[in-house]
Amino acid sequence: MTSKIVNFNLNGRDVEVMAKPLTTLQTVLREQLHYTATKAGCKQGGCGSCTVLVNGEPMASCLLPVEDVVGQQITTLEGLTPAEGLHPIQEAFFENYAIQCGYCSPGMIMVIKALLDRNPQPTREEIIEAIAGNLCRCTGYEPIIEAAQDAARRLNDG
Ligand code: FES
Ligand code: FES
Repeated sequence: MTSKIVNFNLNGRDVEVMAKPLTTLQTVLREQLHYTATKAGCKQGGCGSCTVLVNGEPMASCLLPVEDVVGQQITTLEGLTPAEGLHPIQEAFFENYAIQCGYCSPGMIMVIKALLDRNPQPTREEIIEAIAGNLCRCTGYEPIIEAAQDAARRLNDG
């Protein structure tokens, strides 16, 4: 199959890659661009560890052919993280013990970022609904819910 040039915006920077048809955004991010915060768990759409934002909406990058994001704005955890220190959602994750092995954390943080952008004061139920597609094997979810509530407070106070 013939590769073709694909352009999109990654974390505010225009990028161009050569990709074979049906190459996923996850593969391009991790293996071609070396943006490895986006994780590769199930690679079947079932775990959420590969979640990135596409024009602000969370999507599983393992299910997304990279040719479908031509011209789109992609945000990964690298794009959220400031040059110095941490984003308030990252701080909230650390301080609420919401990260153990950390494999689910990038996807969780991106989902919570999208939630708080559209709904700055979500209810507990809305947080649970937002993270429903993201699996965590370590925390039992409660610290992640508390971190999302704490992140909302930090962002609203900030
Ligand atoms: S790696 Fe994409 S949903 Fe699991
Ligand atoms: S912290 Fe280990 S999978 Fe969530």
